[in-house]
Amino acid sequence: MFYLDQVVPWGRSFDEYAAMFSLADADMTGRILGCGDGPAGFNAEATRIGAKVMSFDPIYRCSKADIEARIAATYEKVITQTRQNQHEFVWEAITSVEELGRVRMAAMRTFLDDYPVGLIEGRYLNLELPSLPFPDGDFDLALCSHLLFLYSQQLDEGFHYASLLELCRVAKEVRVFPLLALGGALSPHLQGSVEMLRAAGYQVSIERVRYEFQRGACEMLRIQRDDG
Ligand SMILES: C[S@@+](CC[C@H](N)C(=O)[O-])C[C@H]1O[C@@H](n2cnc3c(N)ncnc32)[C@H](O)[C@@H]1O
Repeated sequence: MFYLDQVVPWGRSFDEYAAMFSLADADMTGRILGCGDGPAGFNAEATRIGAKVMSFDPIYRCSKADIEARIAATYEKVITQTRQNQHEFVWEAITSVEELGRVRMAAMRTFLDDYPVGLIEGRYLNLELPSLPFPDGDFDLALCSHLLFLYSQQLDEGFHYASLLELCRVAKEVRVFPLLALGGALSPHLQGSVEMLRAAGYQVSIERVRYEFQRGACEMLRIQRDDG
């Protein structure tokens, strides 16, 4: 079973974010918060097309060289785990482990090239869940890819609840993908999170998206304020 003992820096592209989160043109016109974006190419590519994206991640306390070294160290671990557990993935958009390595490294290269200027422009912020310094409703949309729910074993239920509420406080809408944990089972924190959010007055839906790489991971959680 695919397993990582800690949350690793590993980044996806803008196109993957667009598919994972069913991003429409209208979604790209507001202020977007990328949660745990790490070395994803999303911020760089979205900025290039004129979107207003801020990403936060504790890894942004590190220098470009340090992040590059951590990516290199992560690469072998993730590729080896993927090769050993190929049946846990859908090999359609990405057809082989080697192609996966190339696609991910290209997205992370896009991030690394953008990182120095993005730091100066305040697009990469060294912050971490479950507590953020932004005012209420500061963002139109918060996106959380491959952190919450995926790392259910490393991040407990209390962390999930506090983090989801905090994202809902700072953004008018929150989308989270995937809803499966590492290894491919539904996150044990999902049902409780949905109930907790509904009890707190949010509209919550689970929606099918046009993205599936981890087998069975083809749904996102959408959370909106009742007045949203
Ligand atoms: C697997 S990567 C996903 C990167 C990106 N979101 C993507 O899907 O390509 C997980 C990221 O979560 C970050 N992370 C870990 N703990 C965090 C926290 N408490 N708050 C925000 N980000 C965190 C890690 O530093 C890492 O960059």
